[in-house]
Amino acid sequence: MNYIFPKLKVASENDEITSSKIIQLIDKLTEEINLEKDEFLYILNNITEKEITYLNKKAYDVKYKHYQNRVYLRGLIEISNHCKMGCKYCGINYKVKTIKRYRLTVDEILECCKSGYLLGYRTFVIQSGEDSYYTDELLVDMLKRIKEEMPDVRVTLSLGERSKESYQKLYDAGTDRYLLRHETASRRLYEYLHADFMSFDNRRECLSNLKEIGYQVGAGFMVGSPTQTNEDLVEDLVYLKELGPHMVGIGPYLCHEDTELKGNDSGTLSESLAMVALVRLILPKVLLPATTALGSLHTIGREKALKTGANIMMPNISPTENRALYEIYQNKICTTDTSNQCRNCIEGRIVGVGHVIDLGVGDHIDIERVTDNDR
Ligand code: 5AD
Ligand code: FES
Repeated sequence: MNYIFPKLKVASENDEITSSKIIQLIDKLTEEINLEKDEFLYILNNITEKEITYLNKKAYDVKYKHYQNRVYLRGLIEISNHCKMGCKYCGINYKVKTIKRYRLTVDEILECCKSGYLLGYRTFVIQSGEDSYYTDELLVDMLKRIKEEMPDVRVTLSLGERSKESYQKLYDAGTDRYLLRHETASRRLYEYLHADFMSFDNRRECLSNLKEIGYQVGAGFMVGSPTQTNEDLVEDLVYLKELGPHMVGIGPYLCHEDTELKGNDSGTLSESLAMVALVRLILPKVLLPATTALGSLHTIGREKALKTGANIMMPNISPTENRALYEIYQNKICTTDTSNQCRNCIEGRIVGVGHVIDLGVGDHIDIERVTDNDR
């Protein structure tokens, strides 16, 4: 386990002065919705399990104030594991030779959406490695067909970096939201984790383009990736506050042994949850998924995230036969389940921790409802 918070590394306890200073900072953050960099850093450098419990409870209260105990569901379809990018942590990056590659056709994607619709999902998240097979033309056709057959759904795309023109075309064809994790707001760490041909600036440019076009935008980052420091995590908080995304996906780094980063320790549950909580406090109304990575790290990782301010779950509705191939990290959950099984499993988990499923489209609460005719 790769602990970044030094006091968790040694499982130490704080003296009373340090502990009350952290509690004061958490209270200040809850009230003022932001802190100075050095204050965030003080928290991360000194926090122990005791203050994390306090932080997580505060985050839960803020979520409850805006969204109560409702959890929005998104049906996730992993349409292709072909990827031309070189994220060194990711098990489907172009260099990995050990996996069989697959991609779904538009007809197959539509079938997944239709069966997801019958399970009650009203948002589909269509995710892929960066695969040039999915041209604007093909995607526009796919979007039109989804929206024609199911006009009451939201479509979220998560297909990586594209040009502004492409994002605009996909938006005009009916896409509502776009997920593109910023991965890390630290230039040093970004460059360490990605192939030389990838660009920190372009990733940010993509996110600002998406916002400018009018998408509901999701950013996000991993916790515990090799060489990540508390300073890097503070940069993530500062960047997110500045960007003001509608969604933020946060999960632990999980080591994949077929990647360049093999042999590294994975991120931890406590630190990932603490980052979820801090993001809830800086962006009180943000949509926060209890991520699959959290569920893969720990059997009840996602449930713990719901108790820490998360309010989204993304059950997998990909064809079961392809699921194991979308192996961005090892020991990923749900790879042998059917969409039906995930639906039931997720419901049980949500209800089990005192939450309820909301099958609405689940827009960010500040979003004015735009209909397709308004575009
Ligand atoms: N561990 C955890 N998360 C990962 N991702 C990719 N590879 C890994 C890994 N090994 C995350 C990235 C990406 C998202 C789809 O999954 O943050 O944006
Ligand atoms: Fe897929 Fe639990 S969510 S099996």
